[in-house]
Amino acid sequence: MGKVPVLEDLPSVRGASVLVRTDFNVPMVDGRITDDLRIRLPLETLTWLLDQGAARVTTATHLGRPKGKLDPRFDVEPVRVRLHELLVDAGADAGRVDLLPNLRFDPREEAGDLTFAEELVAGQDLFVNDAFGAAHRAHASVVGPPRFRPSAAGRVMAREVEVLGGLLQQPRRPFVAVLGGSKVSDKLGVIEALLQRVDTLLVGGGMCFTFLAALGRSIGSSLYEPAQVGACRALLDSGADIRLPSDLVALSPGGRFGAGVEPSGQMRQVSADIPRDWMGLDIGPGTAAEFADAIGQGATIFWNGPMGVFEDPRFAAGTRTVAEAVAGTNGFTVVGGGDSAAALAELGLAERIDHVSTGGGASLEFLQHGDLPGLAALREGMHP
Ligand code: 3PG
Ligand code: MG
Repeated sequence: MGKVPVLEDLPSVRGASVLVRTDFNVPMVDGRITDDLRIRLPLETLTWLLDQGAARVTTATHLGRPKGKLDPRFDVEPVRVRLHELLVDAGADAGRVDLLPNLRFDPREEAGDLTFAEELVAGQDLFVNDAFGAAHRAHASVVGPPRFRPSAAGRVMAREVEVLGGLLQQPRRPFVAVLGGSKVSDKLGVIEALLQRVDTLLVGGGMCFTFLAALGRSIGSSLYEPAQVGACRALLDSGADIRLPSDLVALSPGGRFGAGVEPSGQMRQVSADIPRDWMGLDIGPGTAAEFADAIGQGATIFWNGPMGVFEDPRFAAGTRTVAEAVAGTNGFTVVGGGDSAAALAELGLAERIDHVSTGGGASLEFLQHGDLPGLAALREGMHP
């Protein structure tokens, strides 16, 4: 992969109007921002541009999935207010910074329509993409502007590429990856790519049951993708060091689980064979200890995806043990965004991770393909 241009590669910033694509897609409850990390991180890029004398910095983001229509639930106003406060706190000239309306209110954004990109860059001299979390989307604001204006990656984007690219190029060994999450079909591509690089792959979460089924184990009524059994079997037969749970925590037939439901049913710790109609919802304590041990021996660790239904406290222990092991190890630790990043934040462990990616889907796609549409656009665009 060629070099992605960075801020220092831009032609004169002094006096320029700069469009900055950010990923301010923050979690919100009742119109209130519950975690502002995605607004905080790109401040470094914005203040750099201001310090270099940019006349105007116009930020633009998507928020949620309003599907190409104006929808007040996805109004960026709370983000605008928070951004302003953070800039003022940082001693920056907030008056020179603006935020456009939600990009996804326009159907041309997700359609990748270049006429929308041209409208976005009208009146702008330069483009900066700092939206790593959206760089896997070939949307108009992600891939379009570099065709029309000198462009560069912002600080957040550059750091993600450096760290995740480092995992692909020269990871210190042993390199241990831990994958969880519900669907193996979503992750097969990244599993295949990771197996070319890692020494050990630990598999938990809902996706472990399709692997266990491929080994002929009984999985009760656990999550299961019959169409993927063959692919899982082939991976297990490849000789790669793939470790699956040796014990699990299961819920009795008909029991209710998940966030915000009245919990019901009995829990039982079982071997990797699950009784009929019982449902596996977390890795067991034996597995959690084995995984923690393997993590502790890694020199490089990548983790994405919870080990169980951690939003239900009865099935949170496996994810907690893995999170603590990743936080406590001396190895270089990288965590993909999304649920695993949320679990770390909830446990107060995020500070102890070397790199928590701002992208969930984006970090996995980058590891799978070694590139993303947003990065390719910056490399190929009319950058200096
Ligand atoms: C995310 O939160 O995953 C990014 O902001 C991208 O959003 P999307 O998954 O709705 O494209
Ligand atoms: Mg996403």
